[in-house]
Amino acid sequence: MRIMIVGTGYVGLVTGVCFSEFGFNVIGVDTDAAKIAKLQQGEVPIFEPGLQDLLQKNLAAKNLTFSTDLIGNLPAVDLVFLAVGTPSSESGAVDLSFILNAARSIAENLSNFMTIVIKSTVPPGTCNILKQEILRINPAAKFALVSNPEFLREGSAVRDFMQPDRIIIGIEQEHSRDVMQKLYKPLQLQRVPILFTTLETAELSKYAANAFLATKIAFINEMADICESVGADVQFVAQAMGLDQRIGPLFLQAGPGFGGSCFPKDCLALQNFAEAQGTPSKIVSAVLTSNQNRRAALVDRIVAACGGSVSGKEVAVLGVAFKANTDDIRESPALEIIPALLAQGAKIRIFDPQAMPNAQQYFGEQVGIRYPKSLKECLCNAHAAVIITEWPEFKNMNLPEVAGLLCPFAPNSPRVLIDLRNLFIAHDFLGINMRYVSIGRPVAEPNLATICENIND
Ligand code: UDX
Repeated sequence: MRIMIVGTGYVGLVTGVCFSEFGFNVIGVDTDAAKIAKLQQGEVPIFEPGLQDLLQKNLAAKNLTFSTDLIGNLPAVDLVFLAVGTPSSESGAVDLSFILNAARSIAENLSNFMTIVIKSTVPPGTCNILKQEILRINPAAKFALVSNPEFLREGSAVRDFMQPDRIIIGIEQEHSRDVMQKLYKPLQLQRVPILFTTLETAELSKYAANAFLATKIAFINEMADICESVGADVQFVAQAMGLDQRIGPLFLQAGPGFGGSCFPKDCLALQNFAEAQGTPSKIVSAVLTSNQNRRAALVDRIVAACGGSVSGKEVAVLGVAFKANTDDIRESPALEIIPALLAQGAKIRIFDPQAMPNAQQYFGEQVGIRYPKSLKECLCNAHAAVIITEWPEFKNMNLPEVAGLLCPFAPNSPRVLIDLRNLFIAHDFLGINMRYVSIGRPVAEPNLATICENIND
């Protein structure tokens, strides 16, 4: 089977490379000529563990190619995946312009029967909108639409593709069942459940899954706030909850709130769609509000940890990526926390193991922001350090060394580490002159003796 993937972003590229790894003949198509040129050279434009090796292996095996020419390559393929972006529009509704344009290009140039698989995340009913548009342009077109939503996490996308929990496929013609079973045969042989349903049900399953995962995160973050009010430990609460098989342990890690290109967008899209359908989801709306408010609340937490003001203080921001193992900063909490600290007079230095180019491109050269070349340089002489992303480089920091690099913002005041990812525990700071502020747990203050001792050094 010869496959075309339209859109070589995070989802399309992983999908195309992995299907070529299954032995299918794949062509990746994108309008971005520079990206296509890089891919043809075996260069992956994103940080995604394991992807570059697979790309280069399958380029060499000649079962993977890239092109900007959708029309010219269409006659040679049996199946087309649409994996183009479906961003949020101003209103919060999904902007379908890119996927409509791709469908129109296909419609204008369809000759043989085509299975068109929607991989992009789209509101329920979109497949039918695309079907009507294709028939409007080409009433004689012979095709079948399939909805095949992805459940790939950035930073583990290759693994999530190769070892999915399930595959969800919405079909409108029985013929598509055979096509999709052939496509996913390698995973079926691994006993991965493949579930067939209608187009709308498949489309909604994706939103429901993401919105529920976002709900778990917003919930544990609100439990963290309650824990702080009563001196309880949210990590224990999460563990106690997660041992209940009906709840499960994953996505109960308290932090700065969810970011990325999916959860915020998909929750907004679902909220918008549900309202338009006359069946508003109060839960999804509350999750979005809770997540949004969290950023400002954490800025207040940082300011309080720095003695009530960050004006004139050097603050080391550790991590800008929306989570570890990615260079993606889209909707990262850092994108709101950093400007808020700057607005209160902080002097910011940023370090992120992978996302520095994206961070520098986003924030640019502005007064009050520096981009040190190393974690050590970032920490040196800072009055406070704030961990926003759970990179292993931060978890593995040598805390006495960190304390030595940081400097008190006033005489008799401790160094300050604000850990928005709970990478450490209070016990790690015994004997270290550092105030440790984390999420959903009591603040760990250094004992005064330690402070006096260090001052006399
Ligand atoms: C998500 C879904 O997991 C994936 O199935 C879907 O296909 C795309 O969207 P992704 O956005 O890449 O994947 O990241 P994910 O690992 O889900 O994390 C999303 C956000 O939630 C990140 O900001 C992360 O830091 C945060 N998060 C995640 C938490 O705050 N706590 C957790 O316990 C888990």
